[in-house]
Amino acid sequence: MATTLITGGTVVTSTGRTQADVLIDGETIAAVLAPGSVLLGTDLASTVDTVIDATGKYVIPGGIDAHTHMELPFGGTAASDTFESGTRAAAWGGTTTIIDFAVQRTGERVQDGLAAWHEKAAGNCAIDYGFHQIIGGVDADALTAMDGLIDEGVTSFKLFMAYPGVFYSDDAQILRAMQKSAETGLLTMMHAENGPAIDVLAEQLVAQGKTDPYYHGIARAWQMEEEATHRAIMLANVTGAPLYVVHVSAKQAVEQLAWARDRGQNVYGETCPQYLYLSLEEQLGARGDEWGAFEGAKWVCSTPLRSRAEGHQDAMWQALRTNDLQMVSTDHCPFCMKGQKELGVGDFRKIPNGIGSIEHRMDLMYQGVVTGELTLERWVELTSTTPARMFGLYGRKGVIAPGADGDIVIYDPNGHTSIGVDKTHHMNMDYSAWEGYEIDGHVDTVISRGKVVVDGDQYLGAKGDGRYVKRGLSQYLI
Ligand code: URP
Ligand code: ZN
Ligand code: ZN
Repeated sequence: MATTLITGGTVVTSTGRTQADVLIDGETIAAVLAPGSVLLGTDLASTVDTVIDATGKYVIPGGIDAHTHMELPFGGTAASDTFESGTRAAAWGGTTTIIDFAVQRTGERVQDGLAAWHEKAAGNCAIDYGFHQIIGGVDADALTAMDGLIDEGVTSFKLFMAYPGVFYSDDAQILRAMQKSAETGLLTMMHAENGPAIDVLAEQLVAQGKTDPYYHGIARAWQMEEEATHRAIMLANVTGAPLYVVHVSAKQAVEQLAWARDRGQNVYGETCPQYLYLSLEEQLGARGDEWGAFEGAKWVCSTPLRSRAEGHQDAMWQALRTNDLQMVSTDHCPFCMKGQKELGVGDFRKIPNGIGSIEHRMDLMYQGVVTGELTLERWVELTSTTPARMFGLYGRKGVIAPGADGDIVIYDPNGHTSIGVDKTHHMNMDYSAWEGYEIDGHVDTVISRGKVVVDGDQYLGAKGDGRYVKRGLSQYLI
């Protein structure tokens, strides 16, 4: 088994930073050592195969993106990244583990949905992967099948209060699924938007001729997110289910989470880079030569981008600092403009919902360190350590310590990353939602279970490097 020694770097974890060398033996971290100790003449020196000089750089645990949708059939098409292309792009960006969503719909067996996702991913991934289970049809069979998920290493499931006729669950279904969550320890993940009300608003807007992508965000008003978040919290409260609200974008939804947490409820939330950086106003103002006002389709996602004038973005950054939100995932659900997003020309309801960001999450969040929104440690905590703890991976992932998987990123704070389709772009999309973003930092080296998969501008990984990871229960259960 090959050994790798990372020397001279600053090891940053969620709890602090220190000058240290890291020794990886095979796939596993063997030791975190005082700087130079191996090279200062211990016997280990002669056994090290590769030495990586990380002087002046940060050595951090590999990123964990706990919310991705590779190949998701959605909106009359399918997310454009395969497990192969999406996980390779993730590796380029310093993410070494994803948790994707297997899908079950009304009338389908949960076991079949999970098996289908294993089929898509197995042998194709560049980095390690796990699954959550979408339960899109909560019925007696699905509830029984949920009992078997934990043995499969799937310890969380997602319900939707949005998308009637697709993934939607009504309150009675949510209540039953949450009872299962409370009984088993499966973590309930919630897409909290009032879908039936949104559909009425959307229909009325289209009837008024308001068909541009911008109106997607008008129909999906923050009140729809606040109301659904509150309802989810109360249903979790009455059942005792642990609750994790995904892709939070409205400041009022954060207030609901903070209110519930202050009352002692076991409730958590994630936001995504798009809700920190992008806004409804910019979506309204977007005009492309090719697409005109339809340019805004590039940023159609649910929950939607929110108004900067209303202060949602600032509220998200603040919530990340105060721990009212605990994690940043991407909700990576990419679609191309040509042939996919353009399905919604003339009717925003037909634009496939989703943004692709898997490659840029670590950089975009590091930019929050540069601008003073986050500490270095919080950057690591939000993007790696808490995802590992929240979703039953901690110990193996999310930490640099002996016995953990050798998933490590060497990040250069003096480097630079220009984002754009003609620059750094490995996602299978014909545009970048982040075109023109300039990052004061750079993912230099990515090590996945001991193997260097990215070395500067070279990709050294291969399809099939990534393995399925069975997850344990969340560490956030009480
Ligand atoms: O717009 C989004 N978020 N697309 C992916 C599906 C979901 O709701 O997470
Ligand atoms: Zn969702
Ligand atoms: Zn999603």
